[in-house]
Amino acid sequence: MAITITNLTHQYPGQSTDQAALQSVSVSIPTHQVTAIVGKTGSGKSTLIKHLNGLLLPTAGSLHFAGTTLTAQTSAKEWQRIRQRVGLVFQNSATQLFAPTVLADVMAGPLAFGLDHNQAEQRARAALQTVQVPRALTEQSPLLLSGGQQRRVAIAGVLANQPEVVIFDEPTAGLDAPGQRELVSLFAALQRDHRTILVVTHEMDVVAQLSQRVLVMDQGQVAFWGTPAELFRNQPAVVNSTNLELPTPMQLAHQLDPQASQAHLPLTEAELDEWVLRRLRKDDERGTTTT
Ligand SMILES: Nc1ncnc2c1ncn2[C@@H]1O[C@H](COP(=O)(O)OP(=O)(O)OP(=O)(O)O)[C@@H](O)[C@H]1O
Ligand SMILES: [Mg+2]
Repeated sequence: MAITITNLTHQYPGQSTDQAALQSVSVSIPTHQVTAIVGKTGSGKSTLIKHLNGLLLPTAGSLHFAGTTLTAQTSAKEWQRIRQRVGLVFQNSATQLFAPTVLADVMAGPLAFGLDHNQAEQRARAALQTVQVPRALTEQSPLLLSGGQQRRVAIAGVLANQPEVVIFDEPTAGLDAPGQRELVSLFAALQRDHRTILVVTHEMDVVAQLSQRVLVMDQGQVAFWGTPAELFRNQPAVVNSTNLELPTPMQLAHQLDPQASQAHLPLTEAELDEWVLRRLRKDDERGTTTT
């Protein structure tokens, strides 16, 4: 069951038609996979994902998800039903926190969706454990936590609703390297748990390592839709025109062997290791045959 977006257009007040934040976007996002959404600043990434849980309504076009077609005319009740199934972790997720304690904050979603206190608390504690917030912090004010901890609490607040689709808007921005790695392993765990994950990101290493699909947005339109390998290896024109960087392993391999064809460069760290080993072995063979 995919999320099918058809001719989705969004025009913010004051935007002319040709400046619309989304201009007839059509794409079908597969379930149980990680889809990365990338593109320049202002290209429409956040606007797109805000439609997936009804935070923004389409100016034109529709979304089809979970047996329902959603348009600007869809009732608020129907959008509320979708909101329960699609969780969104905002770009500045720490600003989502509002309750007096971490636990109360994470319980707020399940309570709002009708669970009783005990069930909500159970869900909240499980979600906090998933994102590795220490138990000692649960009774503290979220405002006293570090930025990275606040982000985990915000993620727990979304996971506590047990949404089938989890969307992250630039989740790794501003995190240190261990924080980024933890988040990447959280995505992998969520995927093993059969969730559908969408990640808006400017980090091409995250895209290469984590996502099965990538959507490149450019001025409110789809510039590319496909696999990361296809994008980075075979679509240099898209990569250049949308100011994307190549993943670090590709850049390193290119520096090591500028002659190697782009279509065969490694995308991930694991692929880079293999690529280097293969080359060393070849050199070795050459060495043994010439001596
Ligand atoms: N609330 C708003 N009112 C008016 N225009 C807006 C609003 N939010 C975004 N825009 C405009 O819509 C376009 C798309 O913005 P959007 O926030 O979706 O971009 P983005 O790809 O998420 O960028 P970034 O990488 O900087 O987060 C931009 O031109 C932006 O200026
Ligand atoms: Mg954004």
